[in-house]
Amino acid sequence: MIIAASHPTVAEPTLDERQLYLPTFVRILDIKPLTDLEKVFTFELPNGRPLGHRPGQFIEVSVLGVGEAPISISSSPSRSNKSFELCVRRVGDVTSALHSLKPGDKVGIRGPFGRGFPFEKFRGKDLLFTPGGLGLAPLRSLINQVIDERAMFGRVVILYGARNPGELLFKDELKHWDEMEDVELYLTVDRGDDSWTGNTGVITTLFRHISVYPRNTVAATCGPPIMYRFVLMELFGKGISEGNIWLSLERRMKCGVGKCGHCQINNVYACQSGPVFSYKEIKGLEEAL
Ligand SMILES: Cc1cc2nc3c(=O)[nH]c(=O)nc-3n(C[C@H](O)[C@H](O)[C@H](O)COP(=O)(O)OP(=O)(O)OC[C@H]3O[C@@H](n4cnc5c(N)ncnc54)[C@H](O)[C@@H]3O)c2cc1C
Ligand code: FES
Repeated sequence: MIIAASHPTVAEPTLDERQLYLPTFVRILDIKPLTDLEKVFTFELPNGRPLGHRPGQFIEVSVLGVGEAPISISSSPSRSNKSFELCVRRVGDVTSALHSLKPGDKVGIRGPFGRGFPFEKFRGKDLLFTPGGLGLAPLRSLINQVIDERAMFGRVVILYGARNPGELLFKDELKHWDEMEDVELYLTVDRGDDSWTGNTGVITTLFRHISVYPRNTVAATCGPPIMYRFVLMELFGKGISEGNIWLSLERRMKCGVGKCGHCQINNVYACQSGPVFSYKEIKGLEEAL
C-alpha cells in the first residue's frame, strides 16, 4: 500500500515577495575608474523607472554565475531620473566580476533595500558630513541631494579622509564642492606624497579646523568600522547629541530583506532597520560598533 506523504503547505510567494527575491536585469551604460580599486558604474533604470531610493539605501547586485553583493546607491535621487550610479571597490568574487564587465553588459539588481538617511529631518539644520574612504560612496548621494536643495539647509561642512591621495574618490566632485561658496570642504590623507599639500593625518585631525553650533547640527558619517569610535568622540566633543548623529552600519548581508539573519546585531537586522541608524538607536546594541 502506498501512503501519500503529507507535505506542509507552502504558500506561493506574493507578487511583492517575488520582487524582493527576483533580480531585474539592467544594462551598464558607463564605467569610470576612480582609483586602482574603485570604479563607478552607471546603469540604466530598471524597467525605465527611477529607483525611488533614499541616500544610504543599498541594492543587491548580481553577476550571473558568480553571486550577489550589497552595494550602496551612490547617485543622488535628485540626479537619478535617467540612470543611477554605484561605486564598487574590487575586493573579491562578485566585485571582481563586476570590474571585468563592459558597457552594454547586464547585471541583476534587487532593491533598493534598507533604511536610508532621514533627509526630511535634516532640513533647516547645519550638516556635518564625515565620510572616510569608500564611505563617500553612500554619503555622496546624500551630499548631492542636499546641494540640489541647498537653500533648505544651514551650513554644509564635509570632512573627508582617505589613506593616501591616490585613494581619494570622486576627485572632480571634490573640486566642485571645494569651489562652492556655501560648502566647506576639508580633506586629509593618512600619508601624503610629493604632490600633497593638504592636511596629513586621520580624519579626526580635521575637527580642530571647525566650530559648530551643536544644537542645530546633524552629523552623518560612513566609513570603516574602526573610524566610528574616534569620529563619535569628536562629535560628542563638539556637543552634538546622540539622536543627531547618523551612521551607516555595513554588515555581511545576503538576502537584504530580513530573511537570512546574516546581518543580525542582537535582535536587529541591519539590512532592514538600517544600514543607517542614529547613534541613539544603536548605542545599547552590543557589537554594533
Ligand atoms: C549595506 C552595504 C553597503 C555597501 N556598499 C558598498 C559600496 O557602495 N561599494 C562597495 O564597493 N562595497 C560596498 N559594500 C561592501 C560589499 O558588499 C562587499 O565588498 C562585497 O559584498 C564583497 O563581495 P565579493 O564577492 O566581491 O567578495 P568576497 O569574495 O565575498 O570576499 C572578499 C573579501 O571581502 C570581505 N567581505 C565580503 N563581504 C563583505 C562585506 N559585506 N563587508 C565587508 N567585507 C566583506 C571578505 O571577508 C573577504 O575578505 C557594502 C556592504 C553593505 C553591507
Ligand atoms: S541580510 Fe538577510 S536578514 Fe539581513
